[in-house]
Amino acid sequence: MFHLGWFLGSGFGIQPGRGTFDGQAWRDWMKPRRYVEMAATLERGGYDFVFIEDTAMIEDTYGGSAAWTLAHGEMAPKNDPLPLVPLMAAGSKHIGIINTMSTIQYAPYTAARLMTTLDHLTDGRAGINVVTSVTHRVAQNFGYDAHLPHDERYGMAAEWMEVVTRLWDSWEPGAVVGDLDTPMYADASKVHTIDHAGKYYKVRGPLNTIPGPQGRPVVGQAGNSVPGRELAATYADTMLAMGHSAEQMKAFREDMHERMIAHGRKPSDIKIMFLVTPMLGESDEHARDREAQRVAATRDPHHIEQILWQLSYISGGTVDFSTFDLDARMPDVLGNGEQSSMRQYVVGNEDKTLREVVTGVRQISDLGLVGSPDTVAAKMGELMDEVGGDGFLLYQPRALNARTLSEYADGLSPALRRRGLIRDGFDDVPFRDNLLAF
Ligand SMILES: Cc1cc2nc3c(=O)[nH]c(=O)nc-3n(C[C@H](O)[C@H](O)[C@H](O)COP(=O)(O)O)c2cc1C
Repeated sequence: MFHLGWFLGSGFGIQPGRGTFDGQAWRDWMKPRRYVEMAATLERGGYDFVFIEDTAMIEDTYGGSAAWTLAHGEMAPKNDPLPLVPLMAAGSKHIGIINTMSTIQYAPYTAARLMTTLDHLTDGRAGINVVTSVTHRVAQNFGYDAHLPHDERYGMAAEWMEVVTRLWDSWEPGAVVGDLDTPMYADASKVHTIDHAGKYYKVRGPLNTIPGPQGRPVVGQAGNSVPGRELAATYADTMLAMGHSAEQMKAFREDMHERMIAHGRKPSDIKIMFLVTPMLGESDEHARDREAQRVAATRDPHHIEQILWQLSYISGGTVDFSTFDLDARMPDVLGNGEQSSMRQYVVGNEDKTLREVVTGVRQISDLGLVGSPDTVAAKMGELMDEVGGDGFLLYQPRALNARTLSEYADGLSPALRRRGLIRDGFDDVPFRDNLLAF
């Protein structure tokens, strides 16, 4: 068996979609109902978690202004995802909810306390996606003139995670006695300061709330660069990974397992979830038609601009892709943002034109998963057999609506279940226990 997760790539913002069945996301994106329904739908489909992206800025790299961003509602407006977490949990029973937190947006104490609070409010279904933030624009909203260089950000993130973890552990097991007659609500000998004084943070502790049902909420990580992998190998229970073939996926997983062992952890302590956008249809032919339409749409001027905009963002705001000639060679830049994402476009495509790259290259692959639910389920099983695990993080970057979600949860999941490939229900245990159950 393998795991399924869902990547809500636009966070608590306007969900992408300009199609016939996309509803009116531009108008009602901030209403909780669609997210509550999303969690319930995905839970029905056996998804272990939904993973909510977040970024706190209005992007203005492309064309040197925020005009394109605001005209299209791309990444902005965006609400803070944290208050959404208990609402999604209240409308579901088992699915884990992972919200993104950036190490430059939250002091470690605030983050540890908020995540523990969410773990209580969700009865043990909270998870954190630790990110370092991609652009200068985020850093500039939090007291920096510019963001730190890529690798230094991860150094800061490693210290941040160390502090957060120690705060979560600042109450020993058994510290809460709950006896108000003695009185001993909590045993002071089991509640400890952490007295951390490092390069970036100084934190005394202990945390001023009792551990949540999971003790440490589930930790996720998304960066695939070497320092990103190291951070995940040290702390993460789950990780997003990008792969365009079974070989790449297998190599990535093996690399992570070696790193886990080097950090004194077992490879089975992490679930590596490969980002994928399958294309489903009523039949294989129908799915192939839809895929052909998707490919044709990549030549649409709006799509081209959207990818140029995205490249400008993931470069960390360091490269304005509106300034290049579309028919000249793909610029050889990795920028200072999502380096592993930039690699998907740049590395190996040096001989292509920028137009060929933006119309032909996908950051997130379909891994050949195009067909009827039955066909796609069979291929997913074959891929996991080859790779060895641990699961897929499904993502629909263009048309996220109730109909699409139902295709995955009510079409694909039953086909996977018929093959015994995914869970057929959940144990009544906290999120981490479900995630690490197999
Ligand atoms: C699929 C994916 C999702 C991500 N989600 C977020 C996010 O929600 N917020 C954010 O600030 N960064 C996000 N990131 C950025 C990463 O967490 C990481 O900080 C960045 O990619 C730089 O790391 P890298 O060079 O290791 O890829 C995401 C990256 C990827 C690939």
